[in-house]
Amino acid sequence: MSLDNTIKEIKTSFHSDLSNCKTTTDLENIRITYLGRKGKLTVLFDDFTKLPGSEKPKYGKALNILKTDLNNAFNKKLNQLNPDSGKSNDNSEDFSLPGYTLPKGSLHPLEQITSEIKSIFQSIGFSVAYGPEIDDDYHNFEALNVPKHHPARDMQDTFFIDPNTVLRTHTSNVQIHLMENQDPPIRHICCGRVFRNEAVSYKSFCLFNQVEGLVINESSSFAEMKGTLEYFVQEMFGKGTKMRFRPSYFPFTEPSAEVDIWNDKLNQWMEILGCGMVNPNVLANVEYDNTKYQGFAFGMGIERIAMIKYGIKDIRLFYQNDKRFLEQF
Ligand code: PHE
Repeated sequence: MSLDNTIKEIKTSFHSDLSNCKTTTDLENIRITYLGRKGKLTVLFDDFTKLPGSEKPKYGKALNILKTDLNNAFNKKLNQLNPDSGKSNDNSEDFSLPGYTLPKGSLHPLEQITSEIKSIFQSIGFSVAYGPEIDDDYHNFEALNVPKHHPARDMQDTFFIDPNTVLRTHTSNVQIHLMENQDPPIRHICCGRVFRNEAVSYKSFCLFNQVEGLVINESSSFAEMKGTLEYFVQEMFGKGTKMRFRPSYFPFTEPSAEVDIWNDKLNQWMEILGCGMVNPNVLANVEYDNTKYQGFAFGMGIERIAMIKYGIKDIRLFYQNDKRFLEQF
């Protein structure tokens, strides 16, 4: 029989055996019969060495084509029967190489700052409360001593859903919900998103996060508020951080103040929060006895705290999901 015919025959019978093959045991038999050490293909290569030199180029080429064809068809079948085997069959793998490191996610910087703020206040007895982001005019303004047409409404440009429903402009609405739902004493913070219809720029965004604090009992004082906020600043920005209380105005606190901290790098005071003694009118609005109870409240922007702490210059970075920014935290 000529070598040409043998090549054709092996090729045909190999492919027909392969297409009848249903199990990996069958496949292993096929491997031994054709590709094994004494298999048909190996024998063919032995025969080839005995050919006269003039025939070698022609048959050498044909045999190599046959070999590639059989191996490819075999591996394809092996993969179908046992999809995981291909890899372990491949001798080219070097198991001593270090593995691939999978990209690791991290918490968003705002989430990190928020949980830091929470644990600082929790360590001095505050509980964490939540409140609605969509609220009525009453809880966001009216009950907080900001009547309709009061000029203080201009301090916070508002997104209205309808004339009576707003996206809250601050977390102070939660003060009212807390006091409506429980009697004093209250010692809570609340974190969440707030919305303002402001021109977007590096320093203001239409959405940001705040932490609100509210303490109501029979004895709290401005001095206690100062001590609480001083403790917070030292924990958050480091011991020895310089801070000052500056008189300010909020309709829902009286007296009111703002807190600035000294920024060594920029060589200037930076405002970080508003605070004050809860206005007796607010206590009356939630039907607390304002001759018996008193308290203090404070509110701060989380982005602002994060920007100062990490030296971030543009508030919009928090909302762009740019991995180059996020991966730094
Ligand atoms: N709600 C105020 C603001 O958004 C902050 C504040 C909260 C001030 C509580 C005093 C007391 O600016």
